[in-house]
Amino acid sequence: MNNPPETLKTKRLRLRKPVLKDAEAIFAQYAQDVEVTKYVSWRSHRTVKDTREFLRVCLSAWEERKSFHWAIVREEDNQLVGMISARVDSHKWELGYVLARSCWGRGYMTEVVKSLIERAFKQPEIYRVWAVCDVDNLASARVMEKAGMTREGILRSWSVHPNVSAVPRDSFCYSVSKQAKGSERQVAPSKRLQAETKAAKIRR
Ligand SMILES: CC(C)(COP(=O)(O)OP(=O)(O)OC[C@H]1O[C@@H](n2cnc3c(N)ncnc32)[C@H](O)[C@@H]1OP(=O)(O)O)[C@@H](O)C(=O)NCCC(=O)NCCS
Repeated sequence: MNNPPETLKTKRLRLRKPVLKDAEAIFAQYAQDVEVTKYVSWRSHRTVKDTREFLRVCLSAWEERKSFHWAIVREEDNQLVGMISARVDSHKWELGYVLARSCWGRGYMTEVVKSLIERAFKQPEIYRVWAVCDVDNLASARVMEKAGMTREGILRSWSVHPNVSAVPRDSFCYSVSKQAKGSERQVAPSKRLQAETKAAKIRR
């Protein structure tokens, strides 16, 4: 039975089960930010009501053990800076995450993803942690590499990112398995991701 903790501490951050009154902070920090929500599977929130509704769905999914969402809170100033989720499917957890733009590039999400993978594999029934990201979302791909996940391939027309287009887009699929954990850790970006990052810079 999936029964993850309601709170989890990392070096600089704390994950906790969200509460409805987090809506204001989530809305202000990232849910309305079109840059942050570009590659997520939900529409940018227009009002804090949208955020409250989203939190209601998250909390009922937690009760049903279908998926778990944690608010990411920075220890230093107790500020809510993002969210990470694990969707449960049998022996698998699929991760999704988002972070306020002001906090990008400090290694926060790598720290969170690494900790959640560690915690996932403490559950006897979980054998695979995986996630997808848009083929243009190289920051997210890099987070997964740094957290010890490996690219399995490209899933064609996999995800709709409604803030970009209604047409499903290709996604990179990354995973780590309980058996392989630790054996595939990469510190430097993979050659493939280096080349993709270079090509994206040329296109910009
Ligand atoms: C993706 C996201 C969570 C990353 O969070 P973060 O805390 O900034 O990530 P980290 O600092 O741990 O690592 C980011 C890495 O990506 C790299 N990176 C950032 N932008 C990049 C880009 N455009 N191209 C290639 N690499 C990039 C950074 O240099 C860093 O790698 P490095 O440590 O080797 O230098 C954050 O950018 C975000 O919330 N984006 C919007 C929501 C989103 O896309 N969520 C994922 C949906 S799949």
